[in-house]
Amino acid sequence: MSKGRRIARIPNLPPSPEAAARYLLHWESRRLFHAPSDFPLLTPQFLFNSGLPFTLEIGCGAAELLCALAAADPGERYLGADISRRSLYYAVHQAANAGLSNIRFLRADFLLAQARLAPASLKSVLLLFPDPNLSPRHRKRRVFSPALLDALHPALCPGARILAVSDDESLFMDMLAIADADPRYRKTHSEPFLEGFDPPAPTRFQRAWRRVGRRVLRFELERDG
Ligand SMILES: C[S@@+](CC[C@H](N)C(=O)[O-])C[C@H]1O[C@@H](n2cnc3c(N)ncnc32)[C@H](O)[C@@H]1O
Repeated sequence: MSKGRRIARIPNLPPSPEAAARYLLHWESRRLFHAPSDFPLLTPQFLFNSGLPFTLEIGCGAAELLCALAAADPGERYLGADISRRSLYYAVHQAANAGLSNIRFLRADFLLAQARLAPASLKSVLLLFPDPNLSPRHRKRRVFSPALLDALHPALCPGARILAVSDDESLFMDMLAIADADPRYRKTHSEPFLEGFDPPAPTRFQRAWRRVGRRVLRFELERDG
């Protein structure tokens, strides 16, 4: 994470074995790298025992927004993916305390796990305040990339949308350029990008940036055809 972007650490609170079994999948990076086909496709059937497409948040962190969406709409399904064990422990606590039955979490490096997305499985994709990884050495760790758009394209259902939100203008403009260069996607808005983000529950990073008055930018894509 870049200098100046640190916020208070989440406490390390491992969930009960029952809550972990119910909500949390852990895909080990080394094995995912060497043998991706050892891991199941992320189908709605595998995740939720359901045929209905779901919402995916990549880099969900503590998943405040995703849990709030899941609580507000029990008929929908949600998958939060993050590489941080601590954040997902917190997310599992929230889901368990609220008794949610329509959300799960995947602890994995999504740069690797994106290869296990299933065809026509996603209803929407959220990417909220991703790590900017500004240094040349870390840029390849950025989650939003041409490879992600390749992986998402077959996985999106007709009408599915991708929302990208950032407080970091440099990262945001790079993400926008990647999106604009991909003819398989179009924006859902006529403006090049939009300003602000006002979801029903702010995410942890959103609250932090709001406190210091940082400008927030967003764009939304859908498949072109
Ligand atoms: C700046 S935080 C934002 C978290 C949350 N979306 C929010 O708004 O509070 C970025 C998140 O992306 C996660 N992340 C970074 N690289 C990742 C990767 N390759 N795979 C999965 N998660 C990743 C981090 O662990 C972190 O939780």
